[in-house]
Amino acid sequence: MGLKLSFSIFLRPSAKICVPLKKPMEQKKNGLLLEGQGVTKYFGGLAAVSDVSFYLNQGEILGLIGPNGAGKTTLFNIIAGVYKPNQGKILFRGRDISHLRPNEVCKLGIARTFQITKPFLEMTVLENALVGAFFGHQQRHVMEEAQKKSRAALERVGLEGKAERKAKSLNLVERKRLEVARALSTSPEILLLDEVVAGLNPKETGEMANFIGSLREGGITILMIEHVMKAIMGLSDRIVVLHYGKKLAEGKPEEIAKNPQVIEAYLGGIKTQSA
Ligand SMILES: Nc1ncnc2c1ncn2[C@@H]1O[C@H](COP(=O)(O)OP(=O)(O)OP(=O)(O)O)[C@@H](O)[C@H]1O
Ligand SMILES: [Mg+2]
Repeated sequence: MGLKLSFSIFLRPSAKICVPLKKPMEQKKNGLLLEGQGVTKYFGGLAAVSDVSFYLNQGEILGLIGPNGAGKTTLFNIIAGVYKPNQGKILFRGRDISHLRPNEVCKLGIARTFQITKPFLEMTVLENALVGAFFGHQQRHVMEEAQKKSRAALERVGLEGKAERKAKSLNLVERKRLEVARALSTSPEILLLDEVVAGLNPKETGEMANFIGSLREGGITILMIEHVMKAIMGLSDRIVVLHYGKKLAEGKPEEIAKNPQVIEAYLGGIKTQSA
């Protein structure tokens, strides 16, 4: 999707969104939750993801950035079970989950949002959230319990007042919130957020960033893709940078912001785009 990189912010990582962060460094002792080992995915001859390794500790927010086409969403799809890696594996709590189906991955406690929101337009907002609650539960859910979870998720994203409206009546911000609610209604341990900030205005961006910070404070571990540097730099404990499918850099936001290779990768992308 569109590159929404603000270089003035990228080069000045101190210009952060005011998120009430309590970076849970102490939680890292809780240990490794998710790990990718040498993950590779080909589409025909194209290595969309190439030998990428990463880790995600419990309670962390890990940012995943990179120019358009870098392989970020493909990596999400591999974690979520949509694609099987050609090489490498994904481990959740040390267990290889690379060959599980999406619903099985979701049931383990890994929920994702989609870069392009695709709500069931003719269904109500609540019914859309219910789809998540049913998809992600361990056992067959009784409707009452699913409704409770879904309404709680809608309340968390501020959509409780629109529960009975059709999803097609929602604007972009609300659709993004519904996307997060649908994922939250699965009661995830790990949330994979694919560009939930992109397309929002500065005020909405701040609100969404605060909301993501609050999810982490509530105990959810987060892996997020974002082009909006202000948001991802302010929220992430660590950042992994992909470029042409490969891991280009990994480190704290302040290290990534001054990494010459990362800056070059983005400048190259911008030159190409404007050419
Ligand atoms: N299903 C697919 N079939 C063929 N090629 C694909 C498929 N999905 C992705 N690709 C290609 O793989 C590469 C990585 O795509 P991906 O969507 O993972 O990038 P991205 O980093 O998420 O980009 P963006 O920032 O634009 O969302 C791109 O070259 C893309 O065209
Ligand atoms: Mg993408």
